[in-house]
Amino acid sequence: MFDLLIRNGTVVTAQGSFPWDVAIQGGKIAATGPHGSLGQAKEVLDAAGKLVLPGMIDPHVHIHHPFKGGYSADDFATATRSAAFGGVTTVCDFAIQWDKEKTLAETCALRRSQFEGQSYTDFTFHACPTRSDPETVAELPGLIAGGVPSAKLYMTYSRQDRMSDDAALCEALKVTAAHGGLVGVHAENDAMCCYYSDQYQRVGKTSPHYFPLCKHNLVEAEAVNRAIYLAKATGGRLYIFHLSCRESLDLLRTARAEGVQVYAETCIHYLTLDDTYYDRPDGAQFICSPPLRSKADVEALWEGVREGLIGVVSSDHCGFSLENKASGCNDFTATPNGLPGMETRLAALYTYGVRTGRISLPQLVALLSTNPARVFGMYPHKGDIRPGSDADLVLFDPEASAVISPEILHSPVDWNPYDGQELYGRAETVLLRGEALIRDGVCCAAPGAGRFVERRAEDMDLNT
Ligand code: URP
Ligand code: ZN
Ligand code: ZN
Repeated sequence: MFDLLIRNGTVVTAQGSFPWDVAIQGGKIAATGPHGSLGQAKEVLDAAGKLVLPGMIDPHVHIHHPFKGGYSADDFATATRSAAFGGVTTVCDFAIQWDKEKTLAETCALRRSQFEGQSYTDFTFHACPTRSDPETVAELPGLIAGGVPSAKLYMTYSRQDRMSDDAALCEALKVTAAHGGLVGVHAENDAMCCYYSDQYQRVGKTSPHYFPLCKHNLVEAEAVNRAIYLAKATGGRLYIFHLSCRESLDLLRTARAEGVQVYAETCIHYLTLDDTYYDRPDGAQFICSPPLRSKADVEALWEGVREGLIGVVSSDHCGFSLENKASGCNDFTATPNGLPGMETRLAALYTYGVRTGRISLPQLVALLSTNPARVFGMYPHKGDIRPGSDADLVLFDPEASAVISPEILHSPVDWNPYDGQELYGRAETVLLRGEALIRDGVCCAAPGAGRFVERRAEDMDLNT
């Protein structure tokens, strides 16, 4: 007798779509098999007409992100609750060393304590050093061995005092060559960011229209090129966060063909929005770094996804409110960077990707769940529907649709990039380790349902 049986659905994994039932026991997937083949359970969920997907993993989110003395609009409970409505069962946030007096290990411990007792979803984070000294780099092996085997280094933001220099990047990559793990980069050339931003400010060209011209493609591609060069020279393992333009993609293609250990994600907004948004009256809301790009870049990114060069689509969620955004007074140099996106990522990729025929359902699952699990050391516990995996599951109604507005979402963030757009697909029921986070569209969990995910360097696989 199983605890729970999900019957009559279509199971979709990165491998294909299958007319299977799924049996759950003790929070794990106990068995999968053809409809009607698995026996009895204490409870049955009928998934007829629904897709049964592995729980979504968002490997790039910023929760409770500091800004001008305050924080973005959502906290650890509200952000992860909203994410769960979008089918997300695991989030990877960032333990940013804002307080340089704290070690990286202390910073990670603090981040963990902020999630504990609050998070609805399972959670982990990337270590994010802001000090470029040998002592900080020397902490990485301990973190890699201790369940936080990935880092993010900012190649820009010197003026916000959170940039890592090239020496730290080089040495961090050497650490991954020796100990495994992964160094992620926010790849933008800092000198160019400062120079062009000053130049645009001097001539008063600071409206959102000028933002993508200021942080143009070369600003990103030069940094991507440098990071790839260092990964190649050191044998290190590199992850490129939010890759957004053709030039970066070309560098990635060449590097991967040469066997460099580099993996890349793009974000849902770079696939679905473009730089014309900056000419809208609400253009300032769409300020994010890197900026939204041209339609030609958007098409190039879709090609990169189809080729398998880009293996992950994250949200880079950063939930600034309209008030936060308006504090910049329509000046891109003063507007907080980032877009909300955790709750809508699945429906947006389903709408723009699967329904348009650009990608298949198994590809969607790979991009949003299986590949993030493999790359960041959570597979096979997360990211798949197979015996032994955590029973993190989404019963997804592919026919449901909704016109997006803050009222139908579940976030304190009072706007969304897709406001007014019809998005298809709804995560109707979401299970975390066999327990319902969302049931028939209603949240039935409490803060603290989510646990810290201890990740393993040995399980990190860039060949996916
Ligand atoms: O624009 C972006 N990517 N914002 C996310 C938060 C940050 O400052 O890194
Ligand atoms: Zn970034
Ligand atoms: Zn980010």
